[in-house]
Amino acid sequence: MASLSPPEEATASYHHRHSKRYSSSSSNGVESSVSDFVKRPKISAPNSISSSEIESEFSHHDPAFARINNGSFGCCPSSILALQRNWQLQFLRQPDRFYFDELKPNISESRSVIKRLINAEHDDEVSIVDNATTAAAIVLQQTAWAFREGRFEKGDAVVMLHYAYGSVKKSVEAYVTRSGGHVIEVQLPFPVISADEIINRFRNGLESGKANGRRVRLALIDHVTSMPSVVIPIKELVKICRLEGVDQVFVDAAHGIGCVDVDMKEIGADFYTSNLHKWFFAPPSVAFLYCRKSSNGVATDLHHPVVSNEYGNGLAIESSWVGTRDYSAQLVVPSILEFVNRFEGGIDGIKKRNHECVVEMGEMLVKSWGTQLGCPPEMCASMIMVGLPVCLGVSSDSDVQKLRTLLREKFSIEIPIYFRPPGDGEIDPITGYVRISFQVYNKPADYHRLRDAIKELVRDGFKCTSLSD
Ligand SMILES: Cc1ncc(COP(=O)(O)O)c(C=O)c1O
Repeated sequence: MASLSPPEEATASYHHRHSKRYSSSSSNGVESSVSDFVKRPKISAPNSISSSEIESEFSHHDPAFARINNGSFGCCPSSILALQRNWQLQFLRQPDRFYFDELKPNISESRSVIKRLINAEHDDEVSIVDNATTAAAIVLQQTAWAFREGRFEKGDAVVMLHYAYGSVKKSVEAYVTRSGGHVIEVQLPFPVISADEIINRFRNGLESGKANGRRVRLALIDHVTSMPSVVIPIKELVKICRLEGVDQVFVDAAHGIGCVDVDMKEIGADFYTSNLHKWFFAPPSVAFLYCRKSSNGVATDLHHPVVSNEYGNGLAIESSWVGTRDYSAQLVVPSILEFVNRFEGGIDGIKKRNHECVVEMGEMLVKSWGTQLGCPPEMCASMIMVGLPVCLGVSSDSDVQKLRTLLREKFSIEIPIYFRPPGDGEIDPITGYVRISFQVYNKPADYHRLRDAIKELVRDGFKCTSLSD
């Protein structure tokens, strides 16, 4: 079984690589923090946030927990929460004035900030919505109308990845399947060895979509799949869709901005959605939906599923008023840009360091547990899949839920786990993978706690079968 190394050994290369950025107090290798290397002590850039400032920004996190699951719900610093509260109070102080004078121009300002961040061509290509789930409903609703109104033939195909997010798959079922669309799921390998494997499987998926003279009307592709998590070679897949005559491409990048490069001109999709509450420090919940203006003219047929008196005024305006509710999460977007610019390199610097750190922590865990990563480091962003020791006996989706609960309740670790069924003829494959995330508030000690918890379970001869429902 896995040879489990002591904390000092496991963090050695981590410290070596970032040694210049660590303060002397971190030399014992236990309490070092990523916040120690977001600023370089020797070159004190004016925009360097200090480690104590980072700690204070996230002091509302439960200190008892190793929170290594930023991917699920993201995080929001306290300075942004305070600004959000100000917006809420402004509304409550004088709602009429706020509604008539403040709301629209400030949402427009947030849209402009997003437009610049994602390199879109026009402001009205950017709508702000609650989350990726809502964005998917908007896009798939127009697909459903195209089937129902005869612009798409019954039986025309929609191609998506087998690893598409659960709620998005349900949305496809609700909107596309019910309207007569034929849905093709592209099976992806896991663990993944190379981007080419994904590209080839995707090509095959499009081929079967086009069989019997059908047309592929929509390709729905994740930028970063949720579970198992892997970065999809999105630019290549969009290019293939164009060459193969796919009508529309929708990229579900719920983990997009702050996690991977998000450039609308480079990616070239018709629709692209990203949450801002996962990796861009927004309060829950805010996302954008980009709709390319030149997209076959159909972009004009996009509507928010919640119809308000703004219906018919364009998706961006429809989305900026969906009835009385709290819009404050959308209004703090410009301030979030200021927040990320306190870090060296802004959001790109954060993204790069998160990637380096998650790979380092993933490699530390596989070395300790004697397992393997779920993909090569260049195919992950700020999350990576790490194989669990086979002897834990993970053998079903129910096992991973129970194990996740055990890790939360007994070891105070927040971590999602994936069950990977054994393939035909495989002998003793790794069937359980944890998905670790890295965000600015994380410390190596968080990952050491996970390593040691698993090590303890292995040492005690723990098996998932011992967990009751
Ligand atoms: C790929 C993907 N799509 C969609 C979603 C849904 O995001 P939200 O719950 O913010 O709507 C998620 C959430 O993790 C996701 O990973």
